[in-house]
Amino acid sequence: MKKIFAANWKLFKTPKETREFFAQFKEVANKATGELVFFPSAISLEAASTSLTGTTIKWGAQNCYFQASGAFTGENSAQVVKELGGSYVLIGHSERRKIFGETDALIAEKVAFTQGLGLTPMLCIGETLEEREASHTFRVLETQLYLGLAKADKTKPVVIAYEPVWAIGTGKVATPEQVAETHTDVFNILSKLGFAQSPILYGGSVKPDNAAGLIKQPHVNGFLVGGASLEVKSFSEIAAV
Ligand code: PGA
Repeated sequence: MKKIFAANWKLFKTPKETREFFAQFKEVANKATGELVFFPSAISLEAASTSLTGTTIKWGAQNCYFQASGAFTGENSAQVVKELGGSYVLIGHSERRKIFGETDALIAEKVAFTQGLGLTPMLCIGETLEEREASHTFRVLETQLYLGLAKADKTKPVVIAYEPVWAIGTGKVATPEQVAETHTDVFNILSKLGFAQSPILYGGSVKPDNAAGLIKQPHVNGFLVGGASLEVKSFSEIAAV
């Protein structure tokens, strides 16, 4: 299965900074050993689109609503992503779930809507530290996948990003053993649900110095990178593993 290296820029980088990043990044992009995907913030999507035209580098939005247009003040339209030439939408990131109260039911609508437009949803799942310590990780991931994929089309692509909430932005990366065990669980759940062909990315404090150890683990098909994706050097090193 081809690897995917995805960059989640969260609420960083203006359009100018986005153009500057890509001007540099395009010089080193050929070192990547898999597909590259960038998720800039909504206002910088057009800058990404313009910068990446004519390259094989993919991009998408960090969130979208499950309708293309209408009276939904402040929401992002996946239709705009499509028109600008984007390929992906990140859905259900733990910051969306926690800070913005997104439920699995809402996430399921977004996954289905995105697929319907011909975009690829990248569905994020992950347990909190409390849930891991209470040995609920499997149950939490199974529920998030079961509900999040409830309306998804099995014949269309969907990418899964497993991101333990306790490892996001904390510098506490999951150990290779934890990643191996959890990715195998995620793969088994996906197989049961009919999505065995979906790539499974790991996310949570991925850095150039831990990427090589993590990519070797079973069912790790790439990474979703936050902090370390903001610099050309660190992200290109991660994508070269
Ligand atoms: P991090 O973020 O790499 O900074 O931990 C990952 C993410 O939130 O997708």
